[in-house]
Amino acid sequence: MKKLKFKGTPQLETERLILRRIRPSDEDDIFEYGSDDEVSKFVVWNTHKTIEDTRSFINFTLARYEKDEAGEWGIVLKENGKLIGTIGFPWCDVRNRRAELGYVLSRTYWGQGIMPEGVKKVLEFAFTEMELNRVECCHVTDNEKSGRVMQKAGMRFEGIAREKIFAKNRYWDVKQYAILRSDWIKQQTP
Ligand SMILES: CC(C)(COP(=O)(O)OP(=O)(O)OC[C@H]1O[C@@H](n2cnc3c(N)ncnc32)[C@H](O)[C@@H]1OP(=O)(O)O)[C@@H](O)C(=O)NCCC(=O)NCCS
Repeated sequence: MKKLKFKGTPQLETERLILRRIRPSDEDDIFEYGSDDEVSKFVVWNTHKTIEDTRSFINFTLARYEKDEAGEWGIVLKENGKLIGTIGFPWCDVRNRRAELGYVLSRTYWGQGIMPEGVKKVLEFAFTEMELNRVECCHVTDNEKSGRVMQKAGMRFEGIAREKIFAKNRYWDVKQYAILRSDWIKQQTP
């Protein structure tokens, strides 16, 4: 069971990105996109109203790192060293070797394929280091651009899960995607 933990959320790297643990000094970068209503429109958390909201998120995540319960990576753009989003696992079902993936990116950087690049790297970590069998991800039906990320990362659409999420005082239907370890292995062979 130990193997399924996040192994200290080690630093990962892609062509354009460093994925690393978030730090208290990231608060301004996180507040910059966390306070954007357009960014938080389809996520379960509320728009950050003050820097204190951002600090709460950081402190919550740091406490989870301590217990190795946080597979939460900050996305840093190599080009400018700025933290422009996060990607990670809000929960992990150890018994069934599956986890849920979530992500967010600053609006300034949308449309450059950054999130698919990060998601692919985290999936590699999930299937090679964490020994997960299934990674799930879902998006509110209207948030099709998130569905594009899942498709580009090799995840498969499984159907609509009705009223799966209660957030912001209402229920939301979601489009459910997942990738299995066996799918991922097949995709690695050209
Ligand atoms: C969803 C999100 C992570 C996509 O990340 P990204 O790095 O922009 O992903 P891509 O570059 O692959 O673009 C994905 C789709 O977004 C749309 N898109 C591209 N540029 C865009 C822009 N400037 N504005 C709005 N949408 C845009 C396109 O439909 C694109 O699909 P396409 O490549 O087939 O045209 C990002 O939009 C985001 O952080 N949104 C807010 C938080 C969120 O919704 N998180 C997911 C919750 S399930």
